Order: sequence, then C-alpha cells, then structure tokens
Amino acid sequence: MRVSVIGCGYLGAVHAACMAENGHEVVGVDVDPARIERLAAGRAPFVEPGLPELLATHVGSGRLRFTTRMEDAADAEVHFLGVGTPQRADGAAADLSYLEAAVRSLIDAVAERPGTRPLVVGKSTVPVGTARQVGERLRARGMTLLWNPEFLREGRAVQDTLAPDRLVYGVLEPGQQDEAVAILDAVYARQLADGTPRIVTGAETSELVKVAANSFLATKISFINAMAELCDRTGADVTVLADAIGIDERIGRKFLHAGIGFGGGCLPKDIRAFMARAGELGASDSLSFLREIDLINARARQHAADRVSRALEGVLTGRTIAVLGAAFKPLSDDIRDSPALAVANKLALRGATVRVTDPAAMDHVRREFPVLRAVDDVEEAVRGADLVFLGTEWPQFVQLDPVATRELVAQPIVVDGRNALDPRTWRDAGWEYIGTGRP
Ligand code: UGA
Repeated sequence: MRVSVIGCGYLGAVHAACMAENGHEVVGVDVDPARIERLAAGRAPFVEPGLPELLATHVGSGRLRFTTRMEDAADAEVHFLGVGTPQRADGAAADLSYLEAAVRSLIDAVAERPGTRPLVVGKSTVPVGTARQVGERLRARGMTLLWNPEFLREGRAVQDTLAPDRLVYGVLEPGQQDEAVAILDAVYARQLADGTPRIVTGAETSELVKVAANSFLATKISFINAMAELCDRTGADVTVLADAIGIDERIGRKFLHAGIGFGGGCLPKDIRAFMARAGELGASDSLSFLREIDLINARARQHAADRVSRALEGVLTGRTIAVLGAAFKPLSDDIRDSPALAVANKLALRGATVRVTDPAAMDHVRREFPVLRAVDDVEEAVRGADLVFLGTEWPQFVQLDPVATRELVAQPIVVDGRNALDPRTWRDAGWEYIGTGRP
C-alpha cells in the first residue's frame, strides 16, 4: 500500500521505517529540513536500536522516502498522523498546534487531488475528544479517520512497532467504518498474522487507553518511589519489597524500580495533559491523584540531590561530582525531562562542579546544559571526583569495575540513583554505597 507518515520524530520516523519493513511504499513528511535531509540519506536523527538498519535497507531500496513537501505524499492511501503533542509552554495541557498544522496541510494537499479519499490514522497522544474534532473536519473533505494510539517505548521502539502488545483502533462511528478497519488491517497484516490482539472501539476509548496506560505506568513508578521514602526512614529495603510484592501476579515486578523517577517526552507531559483535560471535562477530582504522582516524582529527584549533599556533609561548593548518565533512560539519546540531568542541575546550583557523561546524549547535553561539564567517557568523569552519582542505568555503567574505578576517584562514595549497582561488590571494593530506599 502507499502510506505516508506525517511527523518524523521518535514516533513517526520509527513508524515510517517499520511500515516499509511491513512491505508498504512509505513517504515520511516533516517540516524540519535538517531532519528530513538526514532521514533521506538513510541516517537516523536519534539513537534507537534497529532503526539505522531499517533506514539503510528501505531508503536504499527506494521503498521509504522522506520529504518536507506534503504534496509529495498526497497520493497515499493511508496517512498516519505522528506529530508531537508536547506540554504547552503556558500550562499543563497538550500543545496541539503541530497536529493542527499537519491536519491543515494534509487537507490542502488532498484537495489538490480530486477523487482521492484516503484513510487518515491518528497515532499521536491527544486529549480525549481530539479525534472526533479532527475526524469531523476530515469527513467534510471526504476523508475517514481512525485513531490508533502508539505504545512504543524508546530504546525498544522498532521491536514494539513490529511486534506490538496490542493494536487499538478507535472509530468515530462504531459498526459503520468496516472499510476503514479493513484498510488498517491490511497495513498491519504482518502484525495481525503474528497474532497481535486487535481491539476495535470508539475513538474516545482509544484516546483514553493511551493516557490511561501511561498514567498507570507513572503511578506504579511513583508508588514504588513513595515506598522508597518509607524505606529510607525505617531502614527497610525497597528492592526486596518490590521483589516480594511483585511476585503477586496481580501486582507484577515490572515498573517497580525505585530511583530518581520517570522522565522523557511522554509520561510527565501525558499525566499533566490528562489532568488538564479532566479539568475541562469537569472531572478534576477523578485525576487529582495524578498530581500526587507528579509530586512524588519531583521529590524523587530532590531526594537524590539531598542524598548527595548529605554524603558530602552538606557542602557542595568546591566539590566535584561525576554524574553517569544524561539520557532519560538507557539505549536512548533523549534528554527531555531527564531525571539524571535534573539531579545534575540541582547539584550544580548548589555549587558543585558537575561532570556528566553518557554514551549517547552528550551532543544534546553540550548544547542545552552549558552549566554542566560534559565529558566523553567515564574515566574522565570520575577522575578526582568526590562522589559518583549513577543517573541512568546504561549497561556499561552498571558493569563498571568498582575496584578499578576506586583508583581514579578522590573519595570512594557512590550514590546509586537507579538502584542498579550491586551494593555488596561496591562496598567490598571499599566504597561508601548509598542507594535509594536501601539501607
Ligand atoms: C512510555 C511508555 O512506557 C510507552 O508505552 C509509551 O508508548 C510511551 O511512553 C509514549 O507515550 O510514547 P518511554 O517514555 O519510552 O515510554 O519510557 P518508559 O520505558 O516508560 O520509561 C519512562 C521513565 O520511567 C524513564 O525515565 C525510566 O527510567 C523511568 N522508570 C521506568 C522508572 O523510574 N522505574 C521503572 O520501574 C520504570
């Protein structure tokens, strides 16, 4: 099929490459010429395992193209909307201006081709009610809309797109859009043949599924971070607590890693946009607990900075701290709302010299955080440091040799912001190990 993907950020670029892998003729559209130039040359604009290989193969074969001109995509049978919906600068709600611009330019491009009746499929995370509004505008132009939220995780985005847990199709008129459902089934034929569960539901439900899933995940993380606060006060161990409650299948062990909390371009802004939307719907009380989730998350960062200060007897001026990790999670170079960088900044504000290193995100750190000393490798970061802080659990940091690292630092103190290091090995090597909610 001929498919377009409008918006080539983390979601769109991966989706475009995976749709080409599914066997379709794909064109990716984005307003950012530099991004498009890179993608068109078959190079990934961000770190995402598996993406460079897919781009090289499908851009190479001509099955996947990229353009800044919507007209070049106007003959597609299916248009995916994959633009960002970040938090608005003036509040908690989602900024829908990119979506608005994408829809407008799609309508204009399709109007130039009388007779075309494409299916439009929304993938962006949007406030409930958006699909209906967009769908009505498109219907007036002879186009049909389905909402098909995306659940991919950065760092596993290719795998999550090619083999998703589930496909959710939100239809505006349940029971009356079988043709549209059949077209989307053809787009995802490979995933459906693999047995991926497919849920067809109303548009509003599909929009809510997405934000409900992210809110639940955020709640799990803040729940365990709240337990870590209790563990810190009582000498209990939150990692053992998580193991023990996680054995209960109703609870599950995943997303119960206490530490410096959640960050990135999705969970933080999604829970805030959800609360803002609930307020508009007169249902603020229903989601007031998410405010607590957000506050616990902010406290996790604050407590980490306090732990570092305490370990250095409250004086950070003149001290050098090595922060290992800048990306909001491993296997990504995304630093949006990164907990590791939030802690690093707090330490710098308290007067410390903060050296940061990350296997993937250093270019972004150099550009956006001039107050931090960006260094290229762990050795340079830790040499002569008074304290080492683990901010992102990249495997190369988790596997660091505490004996060799000890030789490089001024003081062997490690604060583990992710509870990812083995306390015993570090203590046996002569380190003062300070975890999160761990005695
Ligand atoms: C999240 C969701 O997991 C995806 O399902 C969703 O599609 C995506 O948002 C989105 O809306 O686009 P992502 O932001 O890539 O995916 O990252 P997660 O793996 O959810 O991690 C989010 C943050 O929580 C990271 O900072 C991570 O370090 C932190 N985290 C995760 C914890 O602190 N503890 C945990 O136990 C798990």
